[in-house]
This record gives sequence, structure tokens and C-alpha cells, in this order.
Amino acid sequence: MAHNRKVPIGVLASGSGTNLQAIIDAAESRELDAEIRVVISDVADAYALARSRAKGIPTIAIDRKSFQTKQEFEAAIAAHLNTHGVELVCLAGFMRIIGQTLLGAFPNRMINIHPALLPSFPGLHGQRQAFDYGVKIAGCTVHFVDGKTDHGPIICQAAVEVTEDDTAETLAERILKEEHRIYPAAIQLYAEGRLRIDGRRVRISDKGGL
Ligand code: GRF
Repeated sequence: MAHNRKVPIGVLASGSGTNLQAIIDAAESRELDAEIRVVISDVADAYALARSRAKGIPTIAIDRKSFQTKQEFEAAIAAHLNTHGVELVCLAGFMRIIGQTLLGAFPNRMINIHPALLPSFPGLHGQRQAFDYGVKIAGCTVHFVDGKTDHGPIICQAAVEVTEDDTAETLAERILKEEHRIYPAAIQLYAEGRLRIDGRRVRISDKGGL
């Protein structure tokens, strides 16, 4: 589905960046009308940065320890995102809680992927939390970011069945595959201007503006 407008996005990642890779691949194959303007990491040797460099995407490593306050750290990230003309910020394994400084710079323009069916199992290791709890259906969620962790309005979710021979690891692998499918799809909905936040609900229209 080729559209004219390519939404300029920035990706924040702290780790291996497989979700970032899925976004890169979808944008390359034109399934996703997005242009990744910059990838920012708080971890200098994060593999996410290597993936970006390999594709010629501008990268920035930004060390929390170089800033006295969280506000200054977030203001610096916001400044980099703005310098690169980013409209939508995509968190992809960014292991820091977003504060008001960064959120306020991108209100309703920041999204996250979480490896559990929210509102169940927010926080770290959602897949393992779900597995240990004994759920029969696990999954993942893409949501807008608000002031609370893993809490904002939900854009889309995918369910993954837990099988008898699953371990937390095999389950996490299957959830990750679904993450790679729904994250680019959610960004595409944004790019097409089809998402409207209505309280806790995200309305998805056939067409229309944001
Ligand atoms: C994913 O499980 C994502 O849901 C969570 O952090 C992990 C990042 O993995 N927020 P990757 O760096 O995209 O491989």
C-alpha cells in the first residue's frame, strides 16, 4: 500500500533492536509509509545502533550520566528528535521511564510496544510474568505513551496461545514475532491518519485525519 506522505519517525532503543529492524524492513519494503530520521539510544553499544548505521540512518548515543537531571537528559533527547524533524516517537525496548519533559514535547505522538496483553503484566519481563502466572493466552500491545508506565490508550494487540510445552523463552520468542508484525502495522495506521484518541479508547477510522 503506497501512500504519498511518509511520516518522519524517531526510534528510541536500548537493546538489540529487533523491533527497530522490523520497522526498518517494513519501511524499506514500502509496507510502512515512514522514514526513520534518527535512532537514539541511552546505551552506547546497543546493537540497535549498529542496525541503524548499517542502513545509513543517523544515530545518537546519549548517556544519562552526562546530565545532572532527568529533565536535562530528556530535553536533550527532545532537541535531537526535533532537529531531525521527528513527528512520531517510537519506543522500541527503550529501558527508561519517560518523564514529562520528553512526553510534553511529543504529546500523543509517542508510542510503545509491550510484550504482554495490557493492562495485565506491565513493567519488566511481561512475557515471563504472564508465563509464571499461568495464563493460557499471552500477547503484545502497542499503545500511546502517557504519564504512567505501560498505561496509555491501546492501538492494537495480538494474542499468542501458551502451549503445554512452552517455556518462558519459547513463549517470548513467539510473542516477539507478533511484536514485529503489529508494531509496523500500528505505525502505518498513524501514518494514514487513522488514529484518534477518545479517552482510553483509540478509534481507528477507515480514513480521515488525526
Ligand atoms: C521487546 O520485547 C519489547 O516489547 C520490549 O522490549 C523488547 C525489545 O526488544 N518493550 P528488541 O530490542 O526490539 O529486540
